[in-house]
Amino acid sequence: MSQYNIEGVNYKGKAEIETYEKLSHQVVQLCEKEGYTQVNTPNFEDYELYRGNTKIDRDKMVKTIDNGGRILVLRPDATIPITKMAANRVTDPKKILKYCYATTIFREYRSRNEKGRDFLQTGVEYFGDSSAKCDAEIIALAISVVKELGFKTIQVDIGNVNYLEGLFDALDLKNEIKQKIRCLIETRNLGDLESYLEEIEIREDYKKILLAFPNLFGSYDRCMKEAQEYVLNDKMREALDRIGEIYNYLVDRDFQAYIKVDLAFTSNLNYYSAMVFNLYAGSAHTSVLSGGRYDNLSEQFGIDRPACGFGMNLNLVIDYIKEDQEDAVVHIALAKGRVAKETMKCFSACGIEFPEYSKESRKLLFLDKTGKIEVIFVKSPDVPVYVQSGASDLGVVGKDVLNESDYEAYELMNLNIGKCMMATAKIKDEPIDYDRKIIVGTKYPKTAKEYFDSLGVRTEIIKLNGSVELGPIVGLSDIIVDIVETGSTLKENGLEVDKKIMDIGSRLICNKVALKTKRDEIENIVQLLEELRD
Ligand code: PRP
Repeated sequence: MSQYNIEGVNYKGKAEIETYEKLSHQVVQLCEKEGYTQVNTPNFEDYELYRGNTKIDRDKMVKTIDNGGRILVLRPDATIPITKMAANRVTDPKKILKYCYATTIFREYRSRNEKGRDFLQTGVEYFGDSSAKCDAEIIALAISVVKELGFKTIQVDIGNVNYLEGLFDALDLKNEIKQKIRCLIETRNLGDLESYLEEIEIREDYKKILLAFPNLFGSYDRCMKEAQEYVLNDKMREALDRIGEIYNYLVDRDFQAYIKVDLAFTSNLNYYSAMVFNLYAGSAHTSVLSGGRYDNLSEQFGIDRPACGFGMNLNLVIDYIKEDQEDAVVHIALAKGRVAKETMKCFSACGIEFPEYSKESRKLLFLDKTGKIEVIFVKSPDVPVYVQSGASDLGVVGKDVLNESDYEAYELMNLNIGKCMMATAKIKDEPIDYDRKIIVGTKYPKTAKEYFDSLGVRTEIIKLNGSVELGPIVGLSDIIVDIVETGSTLKENGLEVDKKIMDIGSRLICNKVALKTKRDEIENIVQLLEELRD
């Protein structure tokens, strides 16, 4: 392999080029028929444009410096540049502007087959109309586009960020608390949300409503009925009314079969100001298209202009278009070792039997006796990788591993297994001088750095892959950060716990799309495990 090869940069052959051109042409043509005009924005944008208002990690943007020393980024999204372009070109905020595009987005993404640094995105932006009809038109166009491309299984989840924001208004919480709650709701991390709400001593009735959010998704009728019960003010009511209006327009267009509701969408670090939606298609492990209303984004360019739009990752579409079929099996990845053994015990206690499984077996894949649940045994750091990619729907892995990895999945449950703690440890009876820089040996560099940074202690972190207790003994490190279960490894090696960092337990994590597409099957498993835990 050449030393000049760059990871994440993919070559395209003639056939692939033709596929991309054909599909993007199809999308643009359909949008043009609906009155959208094709535009393209420059590849370069000002780095400062991306401060605030977007979830895209600024550290991961591709930056360059021009001759004048100004920092530029290669276009990491389409909406912000097009909003800026609209504000520069047309000053009348009420003028209807309908733009469509097919353009390269320079942002990391992962599909089943490849990991890339850029992808082709197509989409639309509709300016100047703040009505529910406009929201519905955007969603209807998104469905038509995905249908036109050949997908048969399509689901659209519609939400409104103002439903949660309305609740926050009623609760009158500090900004950092709201932000933490938004994150926990978005990741559907019910276990941590519950502990956090207890910690901040929120009123019981409000706690009940907040705890309902992670599960407030599903069929329109059921979800809206439940959501109505929690309404506390006009903002929450209007947010639901808006979803209702949009739904009615979509029913008129005969699109109701595709529509579900999800009220766990939040305005966490993004520009969405009201309706938001995700579209799932075929067997894709992530939503292939997403969009929403962003009425406040244009203000920063000097024009107060309502807007709504969507973007679709064509690389993902191309990967999954061939595999548009249903998979009836729930795939579960278990972290090999103690966690897998204990989880298998739990499954057996719940009546989920894997006839070929035994503790001694070296097999890595087992099917349960109904043929509906499959478990695979993988190295613990790989569990989030399997779940994020959609190769597994569920995963069971320690919180220690999750804290270290940068993954996207829902954290559904704190299982009562694999309980231990993360702690710092040092040679017994030898004090550590925290005023000087200390050397830390650990399998968990991110956790260790975050912990010592929060204390203002200067560190050099050495990443080790195991047997970290040896560090202080052989003089490699002053201290270690590791998990302690029985404490016998420390004791037998002449070490002792210095400070506890946090409790650790195994978590059940879930692929974001699987929770929507295999909801009943997954909820069944969660319920069985919950009964066992309680
Ligand atoms: C873990 C951990 C400690 C030990 C703690 O290591 O890193 O070394 O278990 O358990 P205890 O408190 O019950 O003694 P693991 O067994 O995973 O092996 P490793 O050090 O090779 O990673």
